[in-house]
Amino acid sequence: MPFPTPLPADFEWGFATASYQIEGAVNEDNRGRSIWDTFCHLQPTRTKGANGDVACDHYHRYEEDFDLLKKYGAKAYRFSISWSRIIPLGGRDDPLNETGIEFYNTLIDSLLGRGITPWVTLYHWDLPQALHDRYGGWLDVEESQKDFERYAKICYERFGDRVKNWITLNEPWIVSIFGYATGGNAPGRSSINPQSFQGNTATEPWIVGRALIMSHARAVALYNKQFRESQKGQIGISLNGDYYEPWDDQDTRDKVAAERRMEFHIGWFANPIFLARDYPPCMREQLGERLPIFTPSDFSILEKAKVDFYGMNYYTSQFARHRDQPAPETDFIGNIEELQGDKNGISVGEPSGVHWLRSAPQLFRKHLTRIYQKYGKPIYVTENGCPCPGEDAMTCDESVNDSYRIRYFEDHLEAIALANNEDGTHIKGYFAWSLLDNLEWSDGYGVRFGVTFTDYVTLKRTPKKSAMLLQHIFHERMNLP
Ligand code: NOJ
Repeated sequence: MPFPTPLPADFEWGFATASYQIEGAVNEDNRGRSIWDTFCHLQPTRTKGANGDVACDHYHRYEEDFDLLKKYGAKAYRFSISWSRIIPLGGRDDPLNETGIEFYNTLIDSLLGRGITPWVTLYHWDLPQALHDRYGGWLDVEESQKDFERYAKICYERFGDRVKNWITLNEPWIVSIFGYATGGNAPGRSSINPQSFQGNTATEPWIVGRALIMSHARAVALYNKQFRESQKGQIGISLNGDYYEPWDDQDTRDKVAAERRMEFHIGWFANPIFLARDYPPCMREQLGERLPIFTPSDFSILEKAKVDFYGMNYYTSQFARHRDQPAPETDFIGNIEELQGDKNGISVGEPSGVHWLRSAPQLFRKHLTRIYQKYGKPIYVTENGCPCPGEDAMTCDESVNDSYRIRYFEDHLEAIALANNEDGTHIKGYFAWSLLDNLEWSDGYGVRFGVTFTDYVTLKRTPKKSAMLLQHIFHERMNLP
């Protein structure tokens, strides 16, 4: 590409990870158990036998990992804090674990010492098991938000002198739907999945959604009131969501279906969080009283919880087609049919190394612009990446030649630059998922998203070609030496 579309010189970029996916050391230094420890160990078939006991052993190898970040030229690094390392039992009256706090202090200092800006996610899915046992975790809207607020406060107090970029929650849709509707993620509750623990797919995800929205809002309102002025940082949330293109772009019903699908996924959280508004009307219409209401006091917290940015995790897109049948009670996608393929000159083509991900950069550009127009906040892409086709079965030598990933990054960065320059969208940063191959949740260790190959026997790290390429792409687009 001789003249790549430029990006501003202050564009933030780096790599992202999450605690349970990389840290290991689950029983060290007084860490409490999380719902993911339980999920992996109780029914190992549900995670392909994998667990995070050792993972990438980042807990002991962070120096080496940060040397890689430096070598790759990253300006920033997004990681998550394990709540149960800091407060092993999780609750607002439970004791702190100073050794856990020290660990994250050391991480932050090591990054800053290398000139890398820390971006901290407070919750990337590892709820302290004790809170789940005590009151059902996220199923208790009142209790969970109070405990999350206290956990956030500890993080601001202990790390906020150096951490200036906060992300409250990672992908609350996945937490609610995979954890409480399909049961594919911890805590694995569902009434439609025979392998799961008993749950209620018709009601629980919507209750959990409200708990997450209010927990986020309480943490942000607290930051705004007590910490913003002195610490001068910014705060936001990372939402995931595919872009949906109407299957037949001449059929109004398909257009409405595509929009409804995105409202069920993104608007569910974004309406209250970015606009301090009720859920999208199409959700209320389909779900009726199963969708909880926000009380006047909820709204007053939502009003005070102004965020600075929209964190976007983006991987793929799909088509949506209208369905004539009424929605079953267990539907959570707006009663539409999801399709993949090529249609109307748009390709949701090129399969990657994981079944749900196909490269669709054209639709990424549309997605960025839609989100910016609807919610009006600058966007940081807080995750984007892919496994290469067949990478699960590759040796290290094969995996490092990751041409599919290189192309994926190039195409998606071009989409960002075009959205910024030609569509009036404001995108301020980009984090590639992920720094290194790690535990891909219920898909285990076979699905490799890293720019660094992890050998899970020796724990040796080997950079893939894409790792060194990002710096080159960014420098060229930012017109830096
Ligand atoms: C979203 C999640 O935040 C992350 O934990 C996961 O590994 C990636 N997407 C890839 O699926």
